Amino acid sequence: MYPFNWKKSVKVVRILAWAYLRHRVKRTPLWGHLYVTRKCNLRCGYCFFRDPKKRDLSTDEIRAVLDRMHAMGISFLAFHGGEPTIRKDFDAIVRHAHDVGFFTYLNTNGTMLTPEYIDRLGEAGVDLINMSVDSVVEFEHSGKDLMHGKKVLEDLLEARERHGFEITVNFVLNNRNIEVARQTLELMHSYRIPISVGFIVKHLFHDEQEPSLFFRTEAEKRRLFEVLDEIIVMRRRGMNIIEPTRYFEDLKRFVNHELEWECMAGRDSIGIDTLGELKFCGTLPTEDVSIFDLERLDTRVLHRWRKDKYGNCHERCVTNCRYVTYYYYKHPLRFVLEMAWFRRAVRSIRDRLSTLLGRPPRLGPSVPVRI
Ligand SMILES: C[S@@+](CC[C@H](N)C(=O)[O-])C[C@H]1O[C@@H](n2cnc3c(N)ncnc32)[C@H](O)[C@@H]1O
Ligand code: SF4
Ligand code: SF4
Repeated sequence: MYPFNWKKSVKVVRILAWAYLRHRVKRTPLWGHLYVTRKCNLRCGYCFFRDPKKRDLSTDEIRAVLDRMHAMGISFLAFHGGEPTIRKDFDAIVRHAHDVGFFTYLNTNGTMLTPEYIDRLGEAGVDLINMSVDSVVEFEHSGKDLMHGKKVLEDLLEARERHGFEITVNFVLNNRNIEVARQTLELMHSYRIPISVGFIVKHLFHDEQEPSLFFRTEAEKRRLFEVLDEIIVMRRRGMNIIEPTRYFEDLKRFVNHELEWECMAGRDSIGIDTLGELKFCGTLPTEDVSIFDLERLDTRVLHRWRKDKYGNCHERCVTNCRYVTYYYYKHPLRFVLEMAWFRRAVRSIRDRLSTLLGRPPRLGPSVPVRI
């Protein structure tokens, strides 16, 4: 079983408890996304985040945005892009965020992560590195595959022991990696890395994504449903998949236009784009309002603002991170019980008790690797 990181977990619980309290009492979003650049060194066929023309802020200006976000009550911070690590000052940005008191979470394609870069991030205090991995074999539509990224992943695993950060991977299920989905997830599981399984999102306002990545024909949809069922079985057998089982069932409803759900963008979280502007989510356009123009981040105002302006966008979009928070609002108890982190904590306590009582620890369920 993947070793349980007690030190990190105490930090998460402390920051989460504080964020939750503020969320309930002062109505501040639970977490924030900060787009530190929209530039990127890859061109993934599904991506709508990359925008080479968009200007970046300087290091000091980003520090000021971080201070503002923290002062406004955000304490969980996800670094987004573009590719954040192509910024030469990215470790300095992480260090500042850490010193201010954020829990920091980096989304990365991993291409810039040499062992030295990883050490710099570890020393700067990064808490979680979420690396994108779309395939175990070469994947021409993103390049985020293990033919390119295996060494980086191994370097991250090795550095995790030294620096104590957590590692997760983000896998985007699409019509071109579906036949290697099982193998890829099993390999990640054999590395004992928690896996986030996303589903390809179609942009609502432009049409530049590679069409063959989407499930369009009835045969492709049938194959998708089979693989979603396999993922559900793997999760039930103990694979460390972050999304709840219900998400994979609901993806089928979504593809069949039968899903009823509510996106919490603006209530659960808020995004800040590269020049400090408000951005409800990756798909919706950037608002013409800077974080410095807002007096406070009030979830009631933000949620209503988004709904009034963009209406029922959730009928045409479901993203895994939004779905996870929707699930939390809808089924809080089930959410906690289903959380991979919670299950690992329970197993860790059980193993410690077994050791204290002189019994051999029970092995968690495992999924065989078939590469
Ligand atoms: C926008 S990227 C930014 C960080 C970094 N460049 C990366 O690719 O990991 C964050 C995550 O969104 C995912 N992503 C990008 N476009 C997507 C889409 N259309 N549907 C679902 N996930 C997508 C990426 O694979 C990545 O895991
Ligand atoms: S690596 Fe990330 S930001 Fe870059 S093109 Fe791919 S998904 Fe977009
Ligand atoms: S459903 Fe949520 S994530 Fe999707 S476009 Fe609307 S606000 Fe954005």
